[in-house]
Amino acid sequence: MEAETTGANPAAAGGPVPATPIAAPARSLAVDTPIAKPVPKRRVLTRRVFILGGFWSGLMLAIVGLLGSPLDFMWLRKTGGFGGPVAVTPDRVPAEGTDPVVINEGRFFLLNLQPGVTAHGEKTPGGLLALWRKCPHLGCTVPWRPDFVFQGVQGWFRCPCHGSTYTKEGGIIVAGPAPRPLDVFPLEVKDDKSIVVQTGRQYEFTGSTKNPSRSAPYQPGSKTPPL
Ligand code: FES
Repeated sequence: MEAETTGANPAAAGGPVPATPIAAPARSLAVDTPIAKPVPKRRVLTRRVFILGGFWSGLMLAIVGLLGSPLDFMWLRKTGGFGGPVAVTPDRVPAEGTDPVVINEGRFFLLNLQPGVTAHGEKTPGGLLALWRKCPHLGCTVPWRPDFVFQGVQGWFRCPCHGSTYTKEGGIIVAGPAPRPLDVFPLEVKDDKSIVVQTGRQYEFTGSTKNPSRSAPYQPGSKTPPL
């Protein structure tokens, strides 16, 4: 009788039901994982490049050092323009007391003053005066305005930028924001009555109310007097 109970259904018999094992999904052993490839090194500056670069740089410096001075000596420089001596032929020199003449290549006005006392009270021996056209305010180029009437006088240097106004007899400031009169370039009268004016910042006399007294008589050997 024991043989009958062994083969019977346990649930039907009221006993515990054994757990049914769940089949795991089949897994492939061949995993498809991407393999990282090493990035090739960038060799920007190799020792060979460094040594070659140093060699050629040194060679170039040596050549420049050897040839620089002779080439600099032989190089033809521009003469007769602003920054150096500017020659003015006698036919360009204004007559005494007439309007100033613009010498464009030297960026200055050439004046020929009458001796005596100017309309604004400055003494002058009369003669030649070279005034830099650069406005002492902010550097604009100052034109001669023969038509401009101011304080009952016609003919002034007048800056177009902010209206600084300067006298015909020496570039003395009478109106506007400029801090001083126009600057002066020294000049020398040659034997043939041509004139050489030294232009450039290194030669300038700072403009002042003494500008009219810096004029040089128009005669050979005459120079702008140092003050
Ligand atoms: S630059 Fe001439 S007045 Fe200002």
